[in-house]
Amino acid sequence: MSLRIEYTSAPLGHKIHGVDLANLSDAEFKAIEDAWNTYGVVVVTGQTLTPEQQLAFSRRFGGLEKFVIDAYNLPGNPEIFVVSNIIENGKPIGMADAGRMWHSDMCFMPEPSRGAFLYALEVPMQNGEPLGDTLFASTAAAYDGLPDSVKARITGLRAVNSFSARSAAAAAQAEADPGNIDSATLAHLKAQRDKAKVEVPDVDHPLVRTHPITGRKSLYASELITSEVVGMPLEEGRALLKSLIDHIIQPQYVYRHRWKLGDLVMWDNCSSMHQAIGDYQLPLRRHMHRTTIRGTRPV
Ligand SMILES: [Fe+2]
Repeated sequence: MSLRIEYTSAPLGHKIHGVDLANLSDAEFKAIEDAWNTYGVVVVTGQTLTPEQQLAFSRRFGGLEKFVIDAYNLPGNPEIFVVSNIIENGKPIGMADAGRMWHSDMCFMPEPSRGAFLYALEVPMQNGEPLGDTLFASTAAAYDGLPDSVKARITGLRAVNSFSARSAAAAAQAEADPGNIDSATLAHLKAQRDKAKVEVPDVDHPLVRTHPITGRKSLYASELITSEVVGMPLEEGRALLKSLIDHIIQPQYVYRHRWKLGDLVMWDNCSSMHQAIGDYQLPLRRHMHRTTIRGTRPV
């Protein structure tokens, strides 16, 4: 086995070299699975994957979820969600921009997605440098780094995760600063805002969650989505959530991924959160294929 892990200086984002995800031995698969569970984010470099090969690799981790906007799912392979700013025949081929705030995917659902794998087909480049980085923070390392007094204060607390709060904020932000956001996405955000209140009830999840595989504890709160702490006065709860998110996104817990063609970035929503940087525009093209792994109720 020629698999080699190159460690970053952060707690997550380590690079896995020397494997072909389309042709993995059982030992290589186990090493990748262990690294993903342990670190929360790993980057498998140098891949050339068809949609079918990405799907086959992804399915080894569990059932897959389809993205809610069917227009952005790959025709013929709808479990691949296209992330792209490319316009073809006057229509966006994927969602141009997603997740500019710090978040853990689908945390407003009773059973949020376990994680996602994002594969880079085209990376926007300017003066030889990639744009459209993604930031990842280790919510597990951040939990470990809390003072004991804060750990004691938050043990057993639950927080409300609200899609309607997020939708309202996302639509307001998109309208105020359309930037990279295509008209289909903007229309979707507005429709989502209007439907969210009735169709996606708020859920509460533990503020400290336990990893389903490793048992490691991590903080679980997303910017804009985690809206209040159950049983705590609103402003006090919001101040606590803000202080926890500010703690998580300190440099020592964050890895900034500079994309390269052929990267497959695997993130685990149970022990990390992420944020996309929207610093590129057409004619600089970005094109990625994402698969999403189904998860379980956070405990
Ligand atoms: Fe996300």
